[in-house]
Amino acid sequence: PGTAAHLAAGCADLQALRHAMEGFEGLQLKQAASSTVFGDGNPESAVMCIGEAPGQEEDRRGLPFVGPSGKLLDRMLGSIGLDRSTCYITNVVPWRPPANRKPTPDEVAVCMPFLTRHIELVDPQVLILLGGASAAAVLAKADGINRLRGRWFEFNSPGLPRPIPALATFHPAYLLRTPEAKRDAWRDLLMIRRRMDAVRH
Ligand code: URA
Repeated sequence: PGTAAHLAAGCADLQALRHAMEGFEGLQLKQAASSTVFGDGNPESAVMCIGEAPGQEEDRRGLPFVGPSGKLLDRMLGSIGLDRSTCYITNVVPWRPPANRKPTPDEVAVCMPFLTRHIELVDPQVLILLGGASAAAVLAKADGINRLRGRWFEFNSPGLPRPIPALATFHPAYLLRTPEAKRDAWRDLLMIRRRMDAVRH
């Protein structure tokens, strides 16, 4: 049984990575989950969204963001002209934590090598980090979402040809509970749109 880092390093494509994660035995969380929620959307696209962990509906269907948060995420992406054929969606942790609790720092740390390899293999132009857990994990920062959102950072990894610009915004589940934060979230999304337009022209 390999560590996540060892397994992930050997994966040459997304299919191999999916298999490695499905066969991984190093995390207790996985025993209680019904699926390994790998990803959805178009891995050829320029935009990769990273959430926190699957919820109940995601665990049942094996796809990220297909419950209530996913409906709002689809609207958020739609506001900047994106949908599941023009972006790729995954989570930091691919297994549903019991009762939708937050993944622990240890659980996140165990999954990070898989996520890093996932990012390397998709190699998008832009990362959208959904919520504080995703932002802190991917950017390796201890700050909360209020400090991390709405600013460009870079995701760096030795396996990437260049750093990838990354922008954090509020998690759609938070926006469902706190609709007044949508204003800021939509502003963040516009920053993504502008960056994509700049890359294209
Ligand atoms: N919340 C997440 O962070 N990810 C999902 O896939 C669903 C809800």
